[in-house]
Amino acid sequence: MMRILLLFCLGCAGVIADAAPIRIVVPPAAAPRVAYGAQQLAAAMTAAGLEPQIVTAAGGEPADTVVLGAATDAKMQTALAAAGMTLATGQPGAEGYGIARAPQGPVLVAGADDSGLLYGCLELAGRVRAAHGLPATLHVLDHPAFALRGPCIGMQKTYILPGRHVYEYPYTSQLFPFFYDRAFWHEYLDMLVKNRMNVLFLWSGQPFASLVKVPEYPYAQEVDDEQFRQNVAMFRYIAEECDRRGIWLVQMFYNIILPKPLAERNHLPTQLKAPVPVAEDYMRKAIAEFVKQYPHVGLMPCLGEALQGTQNQIEWATKVILPGVKDGMREAGLKEEPPVVFRTHAMDPQAVIPETLKVYHNIFTETKYNGESLTTWQPRGKDQQTHLAMAKLGPHLVNIHILSNLEPFRYGDQQFIQKCVQAARDRLGATGLHLYPLSYWNWPDAPDKTNPPLKQWRRDWIWFEAWARYTWNPDIDPVTDRAYWIRRIAEMYGNDAAAAHILDGYNADGECAPRIIRRFGITEGNRQTMSLGMTLDELVRPEKYGVLPDLWESQSPPGERLQDYVAKEFAHQPHVGETPPQIIREILDYSQRAVADFAAAAPLVTKNRDEFARLQNDAACIRAMSQNYAAKANAALFVLRYEHTHDLKDMETARTYLAESLDHYRTLVNLTRNTYWYANSMQTAQRRIPVIGGMGGQPANYHWTQLLPVYEKELADFDARLAALKAGGTAAAHAELLTVMKGAPFEVLSGNAERYTVKVGAPVFTDHKYVIQSVTSALDGLKGIRFSDAAAKANRLGPIEFSTTVPVRVLIGYVESDEPGWRKPPNSETDALAAELGGTEPLILDAAKIKGLPKIVVYSLSFGPGRHRLDPRGFGSYLVLGVVTADGAQ
Ligand code: SER
Repeated sequence: MMRILLLFCLGCAGVIADAAPIRIVVPPAAAPRVAYGAQQLAAAMTAAGLEPQIVTAAGGEPADTVVLGAATDAKMQTALAAAGMTLATGQPGAEGYGIARAPQGPVLVAGADDSGLLYGCLELAGRVRAAHGLPATLHVLDHPAFALRGPCIGMQKTYILPGRHVYEYPYTSQLFPFFYDRAFWHEYLDMLVKNRMNVLFLWSGQPFASLVKVPEYPYAQEVDDEQFRQNVAMFRYIAEECDRRGIWLVQMFYNIILPKPLAERNHLPTQLKAPVPVAEDYMRKAIAEFVKQYPHVGLMPCLGEALQGTQNQIEWATKVILPGVKDGMREAGLKEEPPVVFRTHAMDPQAVIPETLKVYHNIFTETKYNGESLTTWQPRGKDQQTHLAMAKLGPHLVNIHILSNLEPFRYGDQQFIQKCVQAARDRLGATGLHLYPLSYWNWPDAPDKTNPPLKQWRRDWIWFEAWARYTWNPDIDPVTDRAYWIRRIAEMYGNDAAAAHILDGYNADGECAPRIIRRFGITEGNRQTMSLGMTLDELVRPEKYGVLPDLWESQSPPGERLQDYVAKEFAHQPHVGETPPQIIREILDYSQRAVADFAAAAPLVTKNRDEFARLQNDAACIRAMSQNYAAKANAALFVLRYEHTHDLKDMETARTYLAESLDHYRTLVNLTRNTYWYANSMQTAQRRIPVIGGMGGQPANYHWTQLLPVYEKELADFDARLAALKAGGTAAAHAELLTVMKGAPFEVLSGNAERYTVKVGAPVFTDHKYVIQSVTSALDGLKGIRFSDAAAKANRLGPIEFSTTVPVRVLIGYVESDEPGWRKPPNSETDALAAELGGTEPLILDAAKIKGLPKIVVYSLSFGPGRHRLDPRGFGSYLVLGVVTADGAQ
């Protein structure tokens, strides 16, 4: 055969482009992902001016051949050895590949498995593109460090559907147009495979009623027949398109969430805190049907949030979910157990997971990396122990969950991300990554105010790419890595020097939000939207707002909170770890450097200028946000000092800082007013900090503009308080403002409970000697409800029915005790439903002294006029210390 050799002189010595056809020899009956890899390779060759042909049999000149094959194949190993690559036992490692070529020899691509061949083809395609031809010699051996690497998509909305509860969104084309858009899937899945991600999770409360028919429960189907037909077709299509790209599709679901029609038919709520027979039967059958219909799609159960109690969760997992999977396996003729990924969220994993392993073997676990924020690469404490315990039991994934402290801004701090991936491996024992997008609840749209909306996977390309890159190889050296990112950013913005500044800007900006939340936040959870700021009271008295100690005990390096810092100053004790003044300095420094970096890049940018302008605006926002927090944390420090000194100068200084923080907040408002639709993608009552996100499913308080009046009033109130102090009204100004509680009319309808007057001497249960010794004046004289403590403790009290003619709040007293039998206060960290009925923060921290009981903390539950069942979340006994008008207790 006549061969025409074209030597290209493009800085890629030794590259040969060959005008003769190049045969890409794929093994006969190659898996779809191998065929996909071969196609991508062929496309790269075509772009490089070659003429590729995909064939299944070798032939022709060796130098015109690319041979794809199994690394375990003896012939392939001989050929590799001839090309200078000898594989050691275990090489190249799962999903790995070897690529070898001796001069004038064939190109050999040897995969450890089908995915390895796919990635080998993609690697070779990249080299062909870079070299504008087939490199004359090759020697590459690689495999991923993490076994599972991939993102999730929330089948969720920013609001709650009318008549529904949190997480309840059937699959419909109206709610989720992207799900039915094949062009979207092509582009998105191509992006995932390009980043060598190999798993995709879809999140839903109750997916089965949209995806399978259960013959015994035809009425459970939540969508009409035409929609159902489309859902099945799309789900199969997505699973196939994933598989073609080496991606394992996994469906996540919460428990126990019932299909609405099934719940209604059986007079049940849609969200159950304990199993009932019809729920067990439906779910087991629905899961079996799912496994039968979609045998290669995985399942990821979240055993909470609605489902409460370890025993209930164990039973639900071992008697409903896993038997359902096994039934489906049998019906589908599967020989091996498909993996089931259990989330450890909202449960006691050390009690539950070992029980699940007794009935099923192929179990993976998944735990949040830094809760629902990104806070540190030094995770430690209790949460670290959970990860390590899970990693001992089997394959374990870290979940980069909701990014409550990063949203809505872009995040591209590759250095921070690399250290987190190393920590996931080295400190937490993880071998898998489950990655949230930056704006989870509104997939696929980004929060930027553009028309049409930006798409998240394009806007946040660096977010996805960085996590993928480091889960493939967490140890890339900094010099190689910097060159890589500069090249990638230059592809986007057209200039290497600009790219270097932009990379530095990303890396500086990315240090601010993690520091702010971990030292000053109330929670890493998604009930706090960090970029909307915090009130001074939240900074000074976080204990009033359901503060989460895990934030600084597990999700931060060692350090001090504002309160600890001031207490130590006055006790002349040494400081330990990160201190608030240090964090204040650091966030001001990093955010200023980022602004300077982006300013230096600006004149050099030649491509995608609009996007660059948005990125630069983000840096300005992060600067204003950091300044706002720095000034407000300083204000809080001086208020806390004042509590020790009673020196008005401290309050004056606090006032100066508070006014400064408001100025920075105004800057943030101005920077975001026309650039962002919202600060947070979850805009419901589940949001609590800085203020509640909305009630009745209606979004509220999601934009900086909406919070400005809150902060303006805060400064005015502070001024009034300061003026009162100056006028000598010390006692009044020091006094906490007691919320006025106004008793509301109500009747107890069920025979298991009775009204009583909350006052000194009154027993708080019908069967017990627990008697009020003193009570805070806000509650004194209100009408409460009492019942049998023993029955409540044994969970045989039954629902308490009551009626009212006005909107009310029922004041629930929780006994602060670890003894079993006492109901626990609501925890919106692990139970999103709790927030729908009202207070997930304590209303009164020390409500009453009751003989024989520890401290009583009061929370409230909201009810409209009408007849209701009172049954606060959880199990065990509690007190009802009043029923007040809705406006009487905020
Ligand atoms: N907090 C909820 C969960 O962890 C939603 O993000 O599932």
